[in-house]
Amino acid sequence: MRRIYLDHNASTPIDPVVAAAMMPFLQNHYGNPSSGHWAAATAKTALETARGQVAALLGCRNDEIVFTSGGSEANNLALKGVFFALREKGDHIITTRIEHPATIEPCRFLERLGARVTYLSVDGTGRIDPDEVRKAITQRTVLVSIMHANNEVGTIQPIEDCARIAHEHGVLFHTDAAQSVGKVSTRIDELGADLLSIAGHKLYAPKGVGALFVRRGVSIEPLTHGAGHEGGRRAGTESALLAIGLGKACELARDLTPMDRVRTLRDHFWQGLWDQFGDRVVLNGHLTYRLPNTLNVSFVGRIGAEVLERLDGVAASTGSACHSGRIELSPVLEAMDITPEAGMGAVRFSLGRATTRDEIDAVVARLKDILDTSG
Ligand SMILES: Cc1ncc(COP(=O)(O)O)c(C=O)c1O
Repeated sequence: MRRIYLDHNASTPIDPVVAAAMMPFLQNHYGNPSSGHWAAATAKTALETARGQVAALLGCRNDEIVFTSGGSEANNLALKGVFFALREKGDHIITTRIEHPATIEPCRFLERLGARVTYLSVDGTGRIDPDEVRKAITQRTVLVSIMHANNEVGTIQPIEDCARIAHEHGVLFHTDAAQSVGKVSTRIDELGADLLSIAGHKLYAPKGVGALFVRRGVSIEPLTHGAGHEGGRRAGTESALLAIGLGKACELARDLTPMDRVRTLRDHFWQGLWDQFGDRVVLNGHLTYRLPNTLNVSFVGRIGAEVLERLDGVAASTGSACHSGRIELSPVLEAMDITPEAGMGAVRFSLGRATTRDEIDAVVARLKDILDTSG
């Protein structure tokens, strides 16, 4: 069966340009960027060039970028780092019910340490109401953390409004931009965030690298203590190899024009499904405020995992899981109040730069076979 990859929100392939940039550091340049000799100089220069490339994508200063091992570490560093640094000031964090586990779980951990966390609800399209942020802020609030775009349904949040409200109350604002970087603009001056997380493997860089933007003047407690790497915010010898991969991927991601083609293809996909199945298929997420590559649909009355299983060779994800014979919706679909009948049939297709029209047409045709022949 032909293999078709429509799971780019889970991970992307490494761009060949990124791989080529990394190669010399895989093979030859082994110096420790912190050493004081010739072998260090190449690594140090490459590391700082990469930092500049990440900063250029976000429109921030180079020293506001902290390299991490990925999106999970960036979120952990933001949430725990701010909580520990501002413990004297307060103990309250505001987030949403639709965050990735890389935000929800650090919040749960901090609750065990005495934090109070408010998990805001969303509407049926997966969007939060900025007014709810305003209402939730108290004297004890130290951080608001709201993801830029949701990984399952692709809904984009009104980050600028939420950040402004947080700032009006003297509260720091973090956004998890793991899914939005490289797909829509993530410039700091537009979003207004004080902290922003990136995951390399969602934007054609390797797995195991990411970054946290920390606005100058915002202090965070490091999670790993040691020598003063990364401006004292994350100890451990930096991997110039991985940083170069992320830097090059960020340089490529500055050009968002490939996303126009991806959006057109995604809309062609939806049109194809609608033409075939009419109201037997339902779109999950916001019609407008949505990542250009993401199509989350419910095949009504079906089970997403079963549809995917029969879509042999097509890599995509479901929004429900079967536990002991019971279908459980993902917390995201649950928060959106999607009915169990629709939610259990949810499938997330996420397109990438290399996805072709031919692939989309082949998947629609295959779905027609599956849904029209099975009971
Ligand atoms: C929105 C979001 N945040 C964070 C992460 C975690 O990133 P990483 O896999 O790099 O730790 C992911 C990965 O799926 C994600 O989609």
